[in-house]
Amino acid sequence: MLVSGYQQGVSARPGSLSPLGTGLLLLLLLLLLLMSCPPPAAPCPLPCDCSTPPETVKCVNRELATVPSGIPGGVRSLVISGNRIARLPGPGPLGGSPLGQLVNLSLRANRIAAVGAGAFASLPRLQRLDLSENRLVSVSPAAFGSAPCPLRELNLSRALGEPSALEQVAALLASARLPELRSLQLSGNRLSSLPPGAFSGLGSLRHLGLADNSLSALGGDAPGAGGGGGSLLQLPPQLETLDLRRNALRALANGTVSELRRRHPDLRLRLAGNPLACDCRLEPLLAWLRHGRPGDAESLVCASPESLRERPVLQLRAAELHCPLQGDMESVLQTSYVFLGIVLALIGVIFMFVLYLNRKGIKKWLYNVRDACRDHMEGYHYRYEINSDPRLTNLSSNSEA
Ligand SMILES: *[C@@H]1O[C@H](CO)[C@@H](O)[C@H](O)[C@H]1NC(C)=O
Ligand SMILES: *[C@@H]1O[C@H](CO)[C@@H](O)[C@H](O)[C@H]1NC(C)=O
Ligand SMILES: *[C@@H]1O[C@H](CO)[C@@H](O)[C@H](O)[C@H]1NC(C)=O
Repeated sequence: MLVSGYQQGVSARPGSLSPLGTGLLLLLLLLLLLMSCPPPAAPCPLPCDCSTPPETVKCVNRELATVPSGIPGGVRSLVISGNRIARLPGPGPLGGSPLGQLVNLSLRANRIAAVGAGAFASLPRLQRLDLSENRLVSVSPAAFGSAPCPLRELNLSRALGEPSALEQVAALLASARLPELRSLQLSGNRLSSLPPGAFSGLGSLRHLGLADNSLSALGGDAPGAGGGGGSLLQLPPQLETLDLRRNALRALANGTVSELRRRHPDLRLRLAGNPLACDCRLEPLLAWLRHGRPGDAESLVCASPESLRERPVLQLRAAELHCPLQGDMESVLQTSYVFLGIVLALIGVIFMFVLYLNRKGIKKWLYNVRDACRDHMEGYHYRYEINSDPRLTNLSSNSEA
C-alpha cells in the first residue's frame, strides 16, 4: 500500500518531493536559520527588561536590594533606577561580570549610601553615570579604580545624604583619573560651602551645576576662610557654565569677582533666585555683569533693601548702592585738599608781598591814623575837662534854675 501510494505519487506528480524529503528540507532550513542567528545571548537577568539592539538592560522600580547578577556582558546601557540598593561594595564592575561595552549607567533613585573602592572600575567605555537621588555618605576615593575612565557626565543631583559627603566626593574627583569629565551636576545637595579647590583637578570640566543649594559664598569668601579678598575658588580653566541659581548668595566678594574676571572672562554665570543685597557689596559683581556677560544678568532682581525689592539689578544707579567714599575716591579727596592748601599758601604769600611793597604808604597811613586818633583824643580830653570843672557845672545849673 505504501509502495503503491509512493508509486501513485510519483506517477501523479513527477518532480515533487516525498514526505521524507520535505522533512529533510525543513530540518535543513531550521539549521540554516539557527546558523544565521547570533549565538544565543546571555540570558536576561530575571527582574529586568532586555532589548537588543541597542543592548539595553532596564531594571526599573523592581524593589531590588542589590545589583542583579548575570547582566549580559555586551550591555551598553544599564538602568537600575527606582530600587532599594544601599551599597555598591566593589571591587569590580558592580560586583559582577566585566561590562566592557557599558556606556550609560543609571543608578538613579536608589538608597545608595556607600560606594566602595573599585565599584566603578573596569568600565573602560563608561561615559555617563547617573547617581542622582541617592543618600551618599561614604564614598571611596578609589571608586573608579586606578585606570583612566572616559567618563563625560556625572550626575550627583540630590545624591548626597549629608552635605559633608561633598568632601569625599571632592577627594574622589581629585584622585580619580577622569580626564574627559565635562559635566558635573551637584544641584539640590543643601551645600552651604565648597571645599577649597574642590573642582580644580577637573581639567576638562565645562559645566558645573550647583543650583538649589545653600551657598552664601564661594570658595575663599566663606566667613571662616579668612576672606581678605584672596579667593580659593580655583575653578577648572575650561569652565563655560556655572549654575548658581536658587542659592543664598547676597553678593559675590570682590576677590571672587576679580578671579572670575581674570580667569573666566566668558563664563556663563547663572544667579537667578539668589537674595541679592543691592548695597555697596554688590558693586564689584554689578560692574562685571554690566559688561554684557552671557548668563542671566537681565533677570536678576534685588531682594534687599526693602526700597529696592524686585528692582532689576542692571537698572540700579551707582548712587543707589550708597557706597562710602573709599579707595580711589579717598585719594582724589586727599589730593584736592593738598591743592587747596597750596592755593591758600600762595594767596598768603602774595598778600604779604603786596604789604611789603606798600610798606611806606602803609607807614604814612598808620601815622595819619595815629594823628587823627590823637586829635580826636585831645578834643575828647578837652570836653571832659570842661565837664568835670565844678564851677562851670554850678554855673550851668544855676542858670537853668
Ligand atoms: C546614552 O545616553 C545618551 C543620553 O541620554 C544617549 O544619547 C545615548 O544614545 C545613550 N547611549 C547608549 C549606548 O544607549
Ligand atoms: C540629573 O539628575 C536629575 C535628577 O534625577 C535630573 O533631573 C537631571 O535632568 C539630570 N541632569 C543631567 C545633566 O543628566
Ligand atoms: C577689589 O579688588 C581689586 C583688586 O584686588 C582692588 O584693586 C579694588 O580696589 C577692590 N575694590 C573694592 C571695592 O574693594
